[in-house]
Amino acid sequence: MSVTDTIKTRRNIKAFKPDPISESELASWLEAASYAPNHRMNEPWELLLVGADTRAALKHKTDFGQAPVVLAVLSKPAPTPFERDENVMAASCFAQNFLLAAHEAGAGTFWSSLGALPHNREILGVPEGYDVIGVFGVGYPAEVPEVKPRTPISAKLTRLP
Ligand SMILES: Cc1cc2nc3c(=O)[nH]c(=O)nc-3n(C[C@H](O)[C@H](O)[C@H](O)COP(=O)(O)O)c2cc1C
Repeated sequence: MSVTDTIKTRRNIKAFKPDPISESELASWLEAASYAPNHRMNEPWELLLVGADTRAALKHKTDFGQAPVVLAVLSKPAPTPFERDENVMAASCFAQNFLLAAHEAGAGTFWSSLGALPHNREILGVPEGYDVIGVFGVGYPAEVPEVKPRTPISAKLTRLP
């Protein structure tokens, strides 16, 4: 699959098969993700592999679509708001790379923002100052949703003199 096809065929997956994801596969997608752009090579992402007890405590409404793996991507704190924003940007690039690497391999991912809520941060043990980019269900899709059409990019483009 070309990079463009990989980008355009990824979907936010809401229902997964029970088939496991091997540690080595997961590690290979995360390793690929770490080639994300990041300022000063600070690699601001950190990962939490969410175990069964923590996952149950999160009480996600669909239990992440029964995904066999749940993973949180965090962004490290920084001394200034500007650098903190940069860290969130880089960690988001990491997350998107991860989603694409998993999709290219035939897996799927579900992005949940529940980790940003204070009580869920506590359940996840997120240290002060860290941002939660997302909590991701990862597995093999049981259902793949239809594409959600995007606004023509020309409507987003402003030409400067
Ligand atoms: C920052 C962020 C937070 C998101 N949080 C959620 C969420 O809590 N629940 C959910 O169902 N989808 C969530 N999504 C996924 C979007 O709903 C999904 O990407 C969007 O509907 C477009 O669908 P697609 O990814 O299949 O193209 C999130 C996506 C982003 C980028």
